[in-house]
Amino acid sequence: MALQQTASPGSADAPAGQPDAPATPRDEFDADQFETASESSTGRLPGTESAGHGSLGPTGRPMPDFPEPPVLDRHGPARIIAMCNQKGGVGKTTTTINLGAALAELGRKVLLVDFDPQGALSVGFGLRAHELDLTIYNLLVERGHDVREVIQPTRTRNLDLLPANIDLSAAEVQLVGEVAREMVLARVLRPVLDDYDVVLIDCQPSLGLLTVNALTASHGVIIPLECEFFAMRGVALLVETIDKVTDRLNPRLQIDGILATMYDGRTLHSREVVRSVVDHFQDRVFHTVISRTVKFPDATLAAEPITQYAPTHGAAEAYRQLARELISRGGAA
Ligand SMILES: Nc1ncnc2c1ncn2[C@@H]1O[C@H](COP(=O)(O)OP(=O)(O)OP(=O)(O)O)[C@@H](O)[C@H]1O
Ligand SMILES: [Mg+2]
Repeated sequence: MALQQTASPGSADAPAGQPDAPATPRDEFDADQFETASESSTGRLPGTESAGHGSLGPTGRPMPDFPEPPVLDRHGPARIIAMCNQKGGVGKTTTTINLGAALAELGRKVLLVDFDPQGALSVGFGLRAHELDLTIYNLLVERGHDVREVIQPTRTRNLDLLPANIDLSAAEVQLVGEVAREMVLARVLRPVLDDYDVVLIDCQPSLGLLTVNALTASHGVIIPLECEFFAMRGVALLVETIDKVTDRLNPRLQIDGILATMYDGRTLHSREVVRSVVDHFQDRVFHTVISRTVKFPDATLAAEPITQYAPTHGAAEAYRQLARELISRGGAA
């Protein structure tokens, strides 16, 4: 695939100090790694610059080939995936938007569910979330609404959005007294599952009742982990919560994958974090890693998925590869 990009973290055009350079100081600079493990000036993905597939990827394992999946000739029922990590700022919303857009590009019908009262996912598509009369909050706590009235199309083909705003913060308290309070989101989504192939739920950074609702409604969980030293802090608690939900509420739930985000192959730091995550989670770690690049905040400002904002950038290609990897693992149709 012919890719090109402007200055990027791995680019020879982007030395430290330029806007796209990582915020953290580099603890080690290794010229070989510079070209092979971060986005290069060719715009390729981390770990794919040298020979084709089979060479070592950024997770230290041979990088498989993820083929273009077959075109779907019919749609639904959806597989539901929660994007979950109670740690803030690890790339949950960014991954929901861009994995969703990449799956939509592959002809999958995708519903994105904003399940964070901050409404970052909704704002990320240019919605004035605070002005919306109907959001997921109304579906959760009031009777008589049709979920299809609340779902909004996005400018991306095959990609719809169930928006949220700060009202959702009240739902956590209001649901406490409900019968089957952990199953409310599953009930809300049920009528539209046949319309979609994948539903991605963007969780808030907490393990409270909303997140438990997301886990109860889901078939799988993707855990984004930022490549920094404390990435694993709190993951044991998250896995424990997932295990409890699997035991008590939703036996079909599984961890679809751990996704390393904000990766910078120029730092020993990033590489060691990925290595320790792979030591711990082994095959559950996606081969695809997402590099740190300013293109993501830029795309958010433009209210577009990276696949549209910078379609040839390595970061867009990374989310396309993640979509293919997810499908090849059976995480999506
Ligand atoms: N790969 C990346 N490279 C650089 N910046 C990134 C990357 N991924 C996300 N960001 C930026 O980091 C910030 C946090 O990302 P994001 O909102 O996706 O995290 P989150 O886990 O959803 O956060 P929260 O827990 O607050 O909901 C955003 O400003 C986003 O643009
Ligand atoms: Mg978020």
